[in-house]
Amino acid sequence: MNALLSSAERIKKGYERFPYPGVDGAALISRGGSMPPLPWMLGIGRPGQVPPSRILVAGCGTGVEAFILSQHWPAAEIVAIDFSPRSIAVARRLARTLGAAERKGRGVGQPVRRTAARRLGAVRRITFSVADLTDSALVEKIGGDFDLITCHGVLSCLPDPGRALRVLAKALKAGGALYLGVNGAGHPATALRPWLSRFGVDVLEMKDERRLRELLGLWDALYDDDLGEHATMPASYLASDVCGAHFNNWTLGAWRAEARRAGWEVVGTAVLPPALRLIMEGGREGALYPAGIGELAERLDQVRPAGFHRMMLRRVASVKTGIPEVQMRGARGEGLRWTGLYRVTFLAVARGGAVKVRLVAASLGVRFEGVLTSAEAAALPSWLKIGLVSGAGMKIWVRNEAARRRMWLWKGLGVVAVATADLPAEGESAAAGKRRPRGPGAKRESPRAKNAVASWTSPVD
Ligand SMILES: C[S@@+](CC[C@H](N)C(=O)[O-])C[C@H]1O[C@@H](n2cnc3c(N)ncnc32)[C@H](O)[C@@H]1O
Repeated sequence: MNALLSSAERIKKGYERFPYPGVDGAALISRGGSMPPLPWMLGIGRPGQVPPSRILVAGCGTGVEAFILSQHWPAAEIVAIDFSPRSIAVARRLARTLGAAERKGRGVGQPVRRTAARRLGAVRRITFSVADLTDSALVEKIGGDFDLITCHGVLSCLPDPGRALRVLAKALKAGGALYLGVNGAGHPATALRPWLSRFGVDVLEMKDERRLRELLGLWDALYDDDLGEHATMPASYLASDVCGAHFNNWTLGAWRAEARRAGWEVVGTAVLPPALRLIMEGGREGALYPAGIGELAERLDQVRPAGFHRMMLRRVASVKTGIPEVQMRGARGEGLRWTGLYRVTFLAVARGGAVKVRLVAASLGVRFEGVLTSAEAAALPSWLKIGLVSGAGMKIWVRNEAARRRMWLWKGLGVVAVATADLPAEGESAAAGKRRPRGPGAKRESPRAKNAVASWTSPVD
């Protein structure tokens, strides 16, 4: 226990000395963050739902992550916490500067700042607080009921990440989701730290920055990868991602196991859609069928260990397991939901009434074409309008093996995601049901006659 405590204290000391990602507001803002696309977080974590109204940023550093979230969801109330008082002080100062620039309707002076202030938008609804995300009384201190929690680059440096995951589970609202960004086994520090130690460098704490940069220059010259130069990275990065009291550079399998012990399940990872898309090119995805999302992601990570995992998690109780390929429950709120990440274009009717469709997710960089049966193509526009397929509506998609596999693949690609009973069924309104769907088959069962070269674009994206 003492060892854990002293380790946590050393971590805090490191961030007090070098707040992350830095203290220079203009530079921070113009650099932006490295989180995955926010529509992906929502589409996978809370498919078909309205934007989050209460967000917790767990381990916010000097605030960039919270500013980006507030720009994207300006109406959301954001609580951003960090156990480093200096990091929180920097974040508050930066928020004041941005808020003042916003009130005056102009930037804070320099051109880069002017752009940035506009880009970052509302910061008024962010509350920055000093708090420890492993504190079992956290919810009593900052409140709970968050429908989205983001935790980027934090749990990798915690001696007991499971404890933090259990605390965060208590802070989540039913139907909410957690975004977790954590180091993977392929993180450069996995090999870099032992190498630096052999030169007598203290990797537990950055002490001699000049000597460290000199060695990193050598490493960069020898180690040919696409991760960029270490030697020229900001001091805050070197103190946090190269030197540091503790590192969990774990495989996805290890993170998933830790998360499960704390009651979470992985429902998506940012690398899964583009990786599956690549596999599809050779028609090799069938060998993975019917692995569930977490298992799929684990298998890919075994082949190519990621340096950093970006994953969405939900509480185990709200994730239905046992039918990994498709979900066929009929209760309200359950079923497969359209994630809104893909735009659909119907290209042409092929032989036997089958319809060729193209799906494009600009935010994920994924694009593919596939063939649907005429019945599926006819049902798809209504699904896009309503957002949910459950019970009887699902029968079209699971009545034969080919359709089941297609739906399984679409889940992996992030076209659809499993919704759960504890989510309000947004978009299932009577009005949505009454609106006449556009697209192939909207007026009749088969799209064949009128759509020989039909092109129709889905309203969601
Ligand atoms: C690498 S930084 C990431 C900051 C921010 N999430 C970002 O991506 O810009 C890790 C942050 O986690 C904070 N942190 C580490 N352990 C913590 C804990 N137990 N409670 C709260 N914050 C913690 C550190 O102080 C540091 O600011």
